[in-house]
Formats: sequence, C-alpha cells, structure tokens
Amino acid sequence: EEMSQKETIEYLKESVQPEIGAIPAYLLGDPSVYEIEHKKVFLKTWLFVGHESEIPNKNDFITRDVAGYSVIISRGADGEIRGLYNMCTHRGMKLCRADAGNKSSFTCPYHGFNFKNTGDCIGVPLQKDIYGDELDKSRLGLYKIRVESYKGLLFGTWNNEAEALEDFLGEFKWYIDILAGRAEMEVLGPPQRFIIHSNWKIGADNFVGDSYHTMVTHGSIAKLGMVPSATYSKKGYQIYTENGHGLNLGTPNPDFAFPEELREEYKSNLTDKQYDILCNLKNMIGNIFPNLSFLISHTKIKGQLISNTSVRLWRPVDVDKMEVITWFLVEKNASEDWKRRSRESFVLTFSPSGIFEQDDTEVFTDITAAASGAMPLMKQLTFNYTMGLHRKPDKDFTGPGVVFDDKFTEASQRNFYRYWLDLMTK
Ligand code: FES
Ligand code: FE
Repeated sequence: EEMSQKETIEYLKESVQPEIGAIPAYLLGDPSVYEIEHKKVFLKTWLFVGHESEIPNKNDFITRDVAGYSVIISRGADGEIRGLYNMCTHRGMKLCRADAGNKSSFTCPYHGFNFKNTGDCIGVPLQKDIYGDELDKSRLGLYKIRVESYKGLLFGTWNNEAEALEDFLGEFKWYIDILAGRAEMEVLGPPQRFIIHSNWKIGADNFVGDSYHTMVTHGSIAKLGMVPSATYSKKGYQIYTENGHGLNLGTPNPDFAFPEELREEYKSNLTDKQYDILCNLKNMIGNIFPNLSFLISHTKIKGQLISNTSVRLWRPVDVDKMEVITWFLVEKNASEDWKRRSRESFVLTFSPSGIFEQDDTEVFTDITAAASGAMPLMKQLTFNYTMGLHRKPDKDFTGPGVVFDDKFTEASQRNFYRYWLDLMTK
C-alpha cells in the first residue's frame, strides 16, 4: 500500500497541472488519492466544526466530525470553547453520543469514568476500592484538539504544527468579514445534513469558481421566474487568495437585500470598502480550503428581495460519497419576520428541498459515477480548466487577493488545485 501511494503521488506531480489548466479525472475517483487526502489534507488543515452561536451558554456542547473522528466542542463554565476528542481514556469508548446538549461533565457509557467539560477526569467508580491510592486521575484527561474561531466560525485541526487559524485564512478574512462578521450573526436551527454520492472536491470546485454553470444547470429556475435571468450574468469579480481560498462576487445590485434597520450595525463592523460591496451585492459564493463553502444569495419573496446566508461543509465519507452539512446564518438583530423570510428564501433554493441544490447534486453525482474507480483510462482523461488563462488580474478592485473583473474564469479552481497539489505532494 505504501508503494502504491508513492506511485500515486509521483503520478499526481506529473499529471495535475493547474498552471496550464489540466486536471485529470483520476483524482475524483481513485481510492488511493482519497487515502492520501485524508492524511495530507484533512489531518493537516483547519476544518470547520460549527458556529459559536450553536453553543451560546455555559456548558453547551455539540459533537462534530473532524476528519473522520468525533470531537466534543464544549463551552466551559469559564466561557472558553474547547475541543475534546470524543474517546474515553480508559478503554476508548465513545464518551458522548448526543449531537448537542448542555452538560458540565460527561459519563462514559462503558465503565462510568466521569470527565469535566474541560477534559479533566473527575470521577472513577469505586476508585479507592479497586485501585487503592495508585490511580492518578490527572493523567487520564481527554485529548484536546486545537479549536480556534474567526467571526464566530469555529474550526478545529489535529495538526499541532498548523499555523494559527487567522494566518491560514490570511487575506481571505476580508471577505469572511462580509459573510460572517457584517453583523452579529446566529445559526437558526440544527444544521441540515444529507448524504450524496459525490466526491467532495466537486462541491468545493463548484463553489470556489464555477459561476459558468449557472446559466445552464439552473436555467429552469430563471424560466420559472423565481430569479431574474440577469442573476446568471458574469458581471462581478472572481477572487482568490493564498492557501487555496476563493470566491465569486456578483455585482452590482440596485436593491439592498439586507434588513434596512441594520445599516448602522453593518457600518460599524465593516470598513467603507466592505460596506460598499455589501450595498452592491447580488450574490457571493466561495470556498474556504479545503471544504467549507459559503453563499449569500437573494430571492424575491412576496415582491421583496431577501438575502440568505449559509455555510456548508462537503464532508468526505468515502471517495464517492460525502455528507453535506448546511448552516443557515442570519443577523441576530433582524426582526423575527425577516429571519423567517430569509430562512424561507434559503430553504427554497439551497437545502435538500431547494431547487438549486437539486440541480447541482444531479451534476455532482453523475460526474462522480463517470469518474469512479482506479480505472487506467481516468489517467488519460484530463479536464479542461483553461478558462481565463489569457487574462490579467484587475488592479482597481478595492479588496485583497488576485482579482478578475468578471466571474467567468477558472482562476479560483486552478488556485484551489494548486494548493491541494502542494499538500498532497509534500
Ligand atoms: Fe470509558 Fe471504561 S471505556 S470508563
Ligand atoms: Fe449551482
């Protein structure tokens, strides 16, 4: 197996060529690529685990998967958020089997060891009787995984050498501010979760740079009149930054699609340039490397343009399968009526019952089926990622990163695969 992984890495070095827009079909379906990704991408980078508003109170917790392992994300009595590997240190039992709750300590379902939500082991049944004075509970604490947050977005990593989250996000933070830091934001309801038969990279690729598909894949939605067909124009910007992050900004938009009464809150949280983008925003779609995509889009509901904001994880389950987890985010200080309509706008478009979601997942699953397995042919079939290779970045745009002055280019996908390849071949 070691040998075949080495061969795979050598092959990736030769065949994945983002600089000339050549990406082989092989990397969507090959099981050995998937195994290497787990080690070199998912065990190395920061991965999204949730939003701070999911655990607002002392002793609130959620359990989340981080690269295939369950982690308890808990807010202690001191207010601090910690990540605890959800494995009892006595014999390895999964300590907590609930998705969410409020608990100051966790009792193991196997022999009953008790752990405080700081990770400390605080109780062992019959301790004196069966261990005498020999058991040192201070050595039995739960393993702590690094957890850091930016603008309420919580990430965890198993890599103790990883750079600080804010450094990993780098210049991309400027755009995350508009997404998640423009106002106090909260998640409404538990995240929606569904499984689709797709390689995770197809979702990331689609959100990081593929505005081109909207006219065709989502054409029927414009024909139905749910969105104006002008929504699918290439007007706006495609932007990428270091570490594989990228997004698409649709502009301009004559109608302000956010709650009017929050203009002052937006102004106080954003720079003038960021606020200007918010005021002109038609949509914003992107991906934080490796697999956290996000979206601000607008829908007309009862004659009024309503924005909806969400983040979504393309969580790999297998080479040809992922769990999609979506969080609906909304301005905490918006009216209840606005929150309800914004959620409606989200559910109608991007969610298992949403019309855009269903269009997209059809495509993702068909690509995955066609590219499946370690078939030798997949090494010969190379996808074309050359769109926009001839273009020079725009120097006038006010935000950071490498910017192109309309959305129809594949620069962000090339940037995504460049960073992916760096990690895979390190
Ligand atoms: Fe948890 Fe024994 S495995 S108490
Ligand atoms: Fe789409």
